[in-house]
Amino acid sequence: MEQIAGPEYSYLRQLVFDVSQNVLDASRDYLFDTRLTKVLRNQGMTRLDELVHKLRAQKNSALERDVAEAMTINETSFFRDLRPFDLLRQELLPKIIEARRFHRTLRFWSAACATGQEAYSVAMMLLEHFPMLVGWKFVIEGTDICSEVVQRAQAGRYHRIEINRGLPARFVVRYFDHVGEDWTVKPEVRKLCNFRQANLCGTSLPFNRATDSFDVIFLRNVMLYFDQPTRRTLLAGIHRVLAPDGILFLGSSEQPADLSLWTPILSGGTCYFRPRQPS
Ligand SMILES: C[S@@+](CC[C@H](N)C(=O)[O-])C[C@H]1O[C@@H](n2cnc3c(N)ncnc32)[C@H](O)[C@@H]1O
Repeated sequence: MEQIAGPEYSYLRQLVFDVSQNVLDASRDYLFDTRLTKVLRNQGMTRLDELVHKLRAQKNSALERDVAEAMTINETSFFRDLRPFDLLRQELLPKIIEARRFHRTLRFWSAACATGQEAYSVAMMLLEHFPMLVGWKFVIEGTDICSEVVQRAQAGRYHRIEINRGLPARFVVRYFDHVGEDWTVKPEVRKLCNFRQANLCGTSLPFNRATDSFDVIFLRNVMLYFDQPTRRTLLAGIHRVLAPDGILFLGSSEQPADLSLWTPILSGGTCYFRPRQPS
């Protein structure tokens, strides 16, 4: 049953947009009723109108963040969509490895990493298929706006159901420890990945060109929550922190808003993007 009226829902929608740039559709306002239950409980409240009243009465950035984070959709899985990982392994990484043979460092960024499966998939792929890279430095960064999922990523602990989605059995045996109903990534996988909270749509990206240049960036299944101007700004920032010969993966239904910055390349049944350089 609707707990608040239309203007209050639109207030919450605007608040979420202001904090995370996520555009929520009015037809799905009912999601506030279910997703904000925990925020209400933490505030000692039972009704959404009390929460809206408190938010309106006085600026409370922490509470605004809690509301925006609670409305994020954190769906992910190990080796999600598989094809980008197969393409990386078979075709793209061997070329990047050749190009980095003197520097001996590979840098990946799982932007909007949710609970970390994408980053850990990269780590496992490197350990499994590129054993010849002993002595190389692997940097795998995972960032997400939602602190709760970042903590889960840091813990690297997954329920059987999450493990059963997309992970080959031999990977489970080789790279996870069984702890009760859960599985925890082994330290050798865990130590390759760094996770932290970061807003992709804040005043600046969590990485900068001067110190961080990534070989591969995964920006998958997050742009669909943003409007066109936000996507445009974000992709211009991503372009700045991607190596000139680097690779960008978007979600299978996502496209860069500004194709003047990117060359789409179809290969291995998927699409990836190369940064165009100013001529
Ligand atoms: C559907 S998940 C995608 C996870 C992963 N990239 C994948 O494709 O499996 C979307 C993630 O984007 C995050 N997100 C939404 N808005 C964000 C923002 N402004 N900055 C950083 N992360 C954001 C959400 O918290 C959520 O974990």
